Amino acid sequence: MKEEVSEIKTELEKKLEQVAGPDSLNSLKVEYLGKKGRITSLLKALRELPPSERPEAGKLVNELKVWAQRRFEEYFEILRKNLQKERFRRERVDITLPGRAPDLGAFHPVATVMNEIISVFTRMGFEVAEGPDIEDDYHNFQALNIPPEHPARDMQDTFYLDRENYLLRTHTSPVQIRVMEKQKPPIHIIAPGKVYRRDADLTHTPMFHQVEGLLVDTDVTFADLKGTLTLFAREIFGPDTKVRFRPSFFPFTEPSVEMDIQCVICGGKGCRVCQFSGWLEILGAGMVDPEVFKYVGIDPEKFQGFAFGMGVERIAMLKYRIDDIRLLFENNLRFLSQFK
Ligand code: FA5
Repeated sequence: MKEEVSEIKTELEKKLEQVAGPDSLNSLKVEYLGKKGRITSLLKALRELPPSERPEAGKLVNELKVWAQRRFEEYFEILRKNLQKERFRRERVDITLPGRAPDLGAFHPVATVMNEIISVFTRMGFEVAEGPDIEDDYHNFQALNIPPEHPARDMQDTFYLDRENYLLRTHTSPVQIRVMEKQKPPIHIIAPGKVYRRDADLTHTPMFHQVEGLLVDTDVTFADLKGTLTLFAREIFGPDTKVRFRPSFFPFTEPSVEMDIQCVICGGKGCRVCQFSGWLEILGAGMVDPEVFKYVGIDPEKFQGFAFGMGVERIAMLKYRIDDIRLLFENNLRFLSQFK
């Protein structure tokens, strides 16, 4: 019996060392301590021993059983710890690695320039006004003194909607009319927004942005217009920017002008961008035509005003030296991320 016990011990110890996982450990436990297991059978066999040998043999086998149970528990514990270690290794996170910087967004260059323009004029005391993108013929054309046969109404330029008299506004000037219909002078407003024209090439897109300006008060002169717009140009393009005013024509202003800034590319020497003139047009402006005042019931004998309108994409292109307006609308991140 003694030999058998120590044989089982050595054998079991060997087998325990070779165990690969909890399943084989379990089967090994059944093999030795299960109902028909080797140690259990030894215990049963005690009955067949002569009574004189039983106490000693019983003690031996019981010690074996207790020992085996302890060894199995120890091995289960080792396996559990190994599994946990393996899991920790697999799921390990290196908290010392530097994090990935989130990709920060930025304003679109058109929005940036729009905000700068708004900021310059609000600092001068102008308030922001808005009007609808879908306009009627009256506000977009008629009340601005644009007669029915005027070329600006041509199907080539204007997106007309199905319902008669409705269209996508071709400029922000109708906001002038909407403000003057509701508000009496003094009026100092700017109106930023989207406008639409049937146009598409290097410098024209079907949708673009304008900022309109309107100032109506007593004792307003052309000098006020020049002073305001010169200050604006220097705020946007730098304090040394040279400007000039050229006579022009708009049905809703009289006299009308266009304002040029000295070419930002060649500094006035002449280059391809300014078509060798040294100057770049940035906006249209003029004194509000008394005819327009009549449409909105403002007395032209008492009040005068000036108005202006500029293309925001055009100013963004000059400021950032972009040579194709379509780049502003393609949403190419390689292009846009340069403006962060
Ligand atoms: C007007 O739209 C007048 N309403 C401006 C005005 C307001 C004059 C108040 C007097 C008083 P014009 O059609 O020139 O004017 O357009 C103004 C600016 O919009 C242009 O200088 C140009 O920069 C921009 N622009 C015109 N068409 C397009 C286009 N298709 N794509 C991008 N920008 C354009």
